[in-house]
Amino acid sequence: MKNADQWVHDHRAEWSYKKLVRWVRPGEQVLNLGAGDCRLDLLLKDRMGCELIPVDVENHNETTLPVTFYDGKTLPFPDQSVDVVLLLWVLHHAEDPAEVLSEVHRVARRAVIVFEDRNESVTDRMIFRGFHRFLRWSQGFSLPHHEWTRDQWCHLATTVGFKTSWEGLIGRQLGPFASCGIGFVWEPIHSQSRTQLKPPTLNSFEKQKLELIVSRGKL
Ligand SMILES: C[S@@+](CC[C@H](N)C(=O)[O-])C[C@H]1O[C@@H](n2cnc3c(N)ncnc32)[C@H](O)[C@@H]1O
Repeated sequence: MKNADQWVHDHRAEWSYKKLVRWVRPGEQVLNLGAGDCRLDLLLKDRMGCELIPVDVENHNETTLPVTFYDGKTLPFPDQSVDVVLLLWVLHHAEDPAEVLSEVHRVARRAVIVFEDRNESVTDRMIFRGFHRFLRWSQGFSLPHHEWTRDQWCHLATTVGFKTSWEGLIGRQLGPFASCGIGFVWEPIHSQSRTQLKPPTLNSFEKQKLELIVSRGKL
């Protein structure tokens, strides 16, 4: 039988999975930054055939999936190398969210999905603080560095070079004891996006040369 801790972890993964199915496409390459227990990664892999890359600064992994650890600053992946990056309840834990988001902007090709706490009212902030003290005690997660609102996250996203394709309230992951969540889908604007690159046009001389090479079987 599951203990309360396992139940909470499974519930959180299922909850996030249900939210994400509308934004993640089957078979996509998904980098889960700040993956935590990695249970969500297993669901996305098994149910949607996604290729998961869990990444974290600390080891909270409870699965057999391999996690890539990094220094919280530079992601060890090439530019525009993954379809989607997940940042679920992570940015407020980062010392420098701008640094993290800039790196995410560099590696993400299609979209970045962010879940954050709403933090608009005094009540929101009280719940946010209480809940994170509980998380530190029960799971060992470090306390948040930032208690930002929707406007602050949106401002950061714009500054780093994202455009928002969706945003809205996503409910409370753990009922009335948890903060109300806000979700963002941000699309990276790359100065020379691969998808915007036009194929080179050949002049008639180059076309003849290419045809000759092909007819001689060199290609
Ligand atoms: C509240 S947990 C969320 C875990 C997971 N995303 C989830 O939804 O269950 C926050 C996670 O962010 C990670 N984290 C903290 N600072 C980070 C950083 N700079 N870059 C990446 N992950 C970070 C922590 O190690 C932890 O796994």
